Amino acid sequence: MDEHLEPPPASRPGDTGAARPAPWPPRLQAPGTGAGAGPVFEALLELADLPPGSMRRVTRGDLDLLLAHTPAGIVAVEDRCPHMAAPLSLGELDGCVVACPLHGGRFDLCTGDPVRMPTTGGLDPDGVLHPAWTPPGREPKPDPPGVKTEARRLTRVRRFRYYPVRIVGGRIEVALPAG
Ligand code: FES
Repeated sequence: MDEHLEPPPASRPGDTGAARPAPWPPRLQAPGTGAGAGPVFEALLELADLPPGSMRRVTRGDLDLLLAHTPAGIVAVEDRCPHMAAPLSLGELDGCVVACPLHGGRFDLCTGDPVRMPTTGGLDPDGVLHPAWTPPGREPKPDPPGVKTEARRLTRVRRFRYYPVRIVGGRIEVALPAG
């Protein structure tokens, strides 16, 4: 996707170190976290607890967030797979790409896009239908008719929604929706 990426918010006096928030596509910012919405930045984690290449789940109320330290910087998104909501913090991070522990989907934390569809197939973020995965060299097996097959087929993988991040005094702060 060729899209302008939002520069990270300016850091504050006292910020140190090379770690930085990653830029994010502006249209993918999480609802309620825009400047006009009165989001509240909250310190969620010590920077030292999120070394490069690592991920952590942090919960505030009913919001489970995934903090990931990618080569592009630190990202905060919901800790829910964009396919069927599995906790991505149990998956694996390789550069910007997180692999889901459930159906083998891979998602780019730096762009918001899927890079490999789940094995179940279904709709990609643009609504394009992808078939269920078939092992190499095998004929695709026809899905049995029924509501479960239809549910898999119509499940749409979403793009990530980003929570603004800033680093202040060695802590990772994330903008949470007000209220
Ligand atoms: S829940 Fe993550 S790929 Fe299906």
